[in-house]
Amino acid sequence: MELITIAVLTGTTRAQRQSHKVAHYIAEFGRQLAGVEIIVVDPTEFNFPGDGNDPEGKDSRYSEITARADAFFVITPEYNHSFPGSLKRMLDSELENYNHKPVAFAGVSDGNWGGVRAVESLVPAVRETGLVTLSWDVYFPHVQAMFEATGALKPEYAERYDRNLGKLFDELLLFARLLKQIR
Ligand SMILES: Cc1cc2nc3c(=O)[nH]c(=O)nc-3n(C[C@H](O)[C@H](O)[C@H](O)COP(=O)(O)O)c2cc1C
Repeated sequence: MELITIAVLTGTTRAQRQSHKVAHYIAEFGRQLAGVEIIVVDPTEFNFPGDGNDPEGKDSRYSEITARADAFFVITPEYNHSFPGSLKRMLDSELENYNHKPVAFAGVSDGNWGGVRAVESLVPAVRETGLVTLSWDVYFPHVQAMFEATGALKPEYAERYDRNLGKLFDELLLFARLLKQIR
């Protein structure tokens, strides 16, 4: 089986970020799948000077990861009905490396809606980059109540989320394999 590399992008640099627990859960889930390599991309560990995708606005480590990735999984919290600026800045720093590669989304919020407005506002932005969106996502409302202090997803959520995430990874991998053939 051909190895598929998935870059898991975490959406915020906020020190108290709850969405990082979601990113960790999704990354660990992906690591259990056969033939999958997961690379977690945390914007706190990268440096993107200025704006845009000129050579001086890139971080070469992010360029290498995005060139290598066959697919992307973006975890975004909702900030003022949109997605965080640090995620936009990171996404903006590349262009060709995204073309004809699929992307899945996880939305996160501390309220009822699970970050759906953040994901809805991400879709047109990533579409412009050449990333290929899927027809469904996964959402984590009331995220502050979903995880144990250890960072593990609480047992009452695990069965449903494991099932939904499994289906989403299946779809992401299907498109990753298909699109790899035409790149
Ligand atoms: C600047 C800012 C704006 C926010 N705006 C919203 C919002 O519009 N809708 C919402 O449901 N939650 C909003 N939240 C709360 C987040 O849902 C909450 O912080 C949640 O834990 C996910 O983000 P985190 O990874 O930063 O913790 C906002 C949080 C911040 C810091």
